Amino acid sequence: MFKVNENYLKLPGSYLFSTIGKKVAAYKEANPDKSIISLGIGDVTQPLAPKIIESLHSAVDEMGKAETFHGYAPDLGYEFLRNAIAESDYKSHGCDIHADEIFVSDGAKCDSGNIQEIFSIDNKIAVCDPVYPVYVDTNVMAGRTGTYDPSTETWSDVIYMPCTAENDFVPDFPKEEPDIIYLCFPNNPTGTTITKAQLQDWVDYANKIGAVIIYDAAYEAYISEDDVAHSIYECEGARTCAIELRSFSKNAGFTGTRLGFTVVPKDLKAGDVTLHSLWARRHGTKYNGAPYIIQRAGEACYSAEGKAQLKEQVAFYMNNAKIIKEGLKDAGYTVFGGVNAPYIWLQTPDKMPSWDFFDFLLKNANVVGTPGSGFGPSGEGYFRLTAFGSHENTLEAIERIKAL
Ligand code: MLT
Repeated sequence: MFKVNENYLKLPGSYLFSTIGKKVAAYKEANPDKSIISLGIGDVTQPLAPKIIESLHSAVDEMGKAETFHGYAPDLGYEFLRNAIAESDYKSHGCDIHADEIFVSDGAKCDSGNIQEIFSIDNKIAVCDPVYPVYVDTNVMAGRTGTYDPSTETWSDVIYMPCTAENDFVPDFPKEEPDIIYLCFPNNPTGTTITKAQLQDWVDYANKIGAVIIYDAAYEAYISEDDVAHSIYECEGARTCAIELRSFSKNAGFTGTRLGFTVVPKDLKAGDVTLHSLWARRHGTKYNGAPYIIQRAGEACYSAEGKAQLKEQVAFYMNNAKIIKEGLKDAGYTVFGGVNAPYIWLQTPDKMPSWDFFDFLLKNANVVGTPGSGFGPSGEGYFRLTAFGSHENTLEAIERIKAL
């Protein structure tokens, strides 16, 4: 008789956004007359920018002719895209990153979940708390996290670094030494970020203790303040301790189109072994690349026209963020984030448990958000709203919340 991977059985409940989806679907079924506004999952609502659509059309046409047809993509991704990334995302920010250190993929969610498999099972991970659930759940699946304590909602072999209003959402170096440190800035879920100087401290710390930082920069396009780094490679020494994950979902609306990339500098080594060679081996063995037409669409994001159109989209969402933030403040809420990220993190009224506030908001305002405790124990008493809705829905949702 076959046996299952028992690590999966250790996972409590289903994936956070699946649980929310089910709850909302049940509420809709019971209340078909209600108009529900979702500011829950961070999914975009604006259509793909015209330059991207133009590029998709022309790539589709290429696929219909023998002379310009494309089969399997090169292992690391097409050079036209990797060169554009290296130039615009790295060289222009003063980062020493080369096209052959960039691995194109179908998104940062998969990469952030898969990257752990190139590390030994007995490595200890450290995560911010609250945290994007993928980092922890995929380490659970791999069997790296020990046992789960339902009373504290923590894993015995995970180092949690609380990020709350008390420490300005900036994690402290943990007491216990980690091997792998997951950082996401600008942060999901809190919508806050750290300064470049603070990030430099993390790079120095990781180099000192021989840890690797897995740096999720999916929300980089939303940075509005000058003292925030757009890439961890702006920090000195990051080439020997950091892997960076990027996404086209949030800056260019590719949540349904799927495109992302991971940077593994060739200087990042465990003894003689480069992590680059392991990730390349993994990529080559398990993955056949993002589709040609999608990589062409990604390339369009880096053209002058594409950049201008995406800048407008980001500004559109950040205007929503402002509406949410100001509206909630007017209504008496304590709010964080929303300045360098499309997420607003609010304290629930009277320390109401996050899931109770979720039910309260769904029932009384027909607005869906994400309970802070779904991202980790230190998220209890907090709640996340996204700025990715339409302008009208955002205004309406805030009016409804104000009227409560
Ligand atoms: C979120 O809502 O946290 C994000 O949409 C999840 C994701 O990007 O996978």
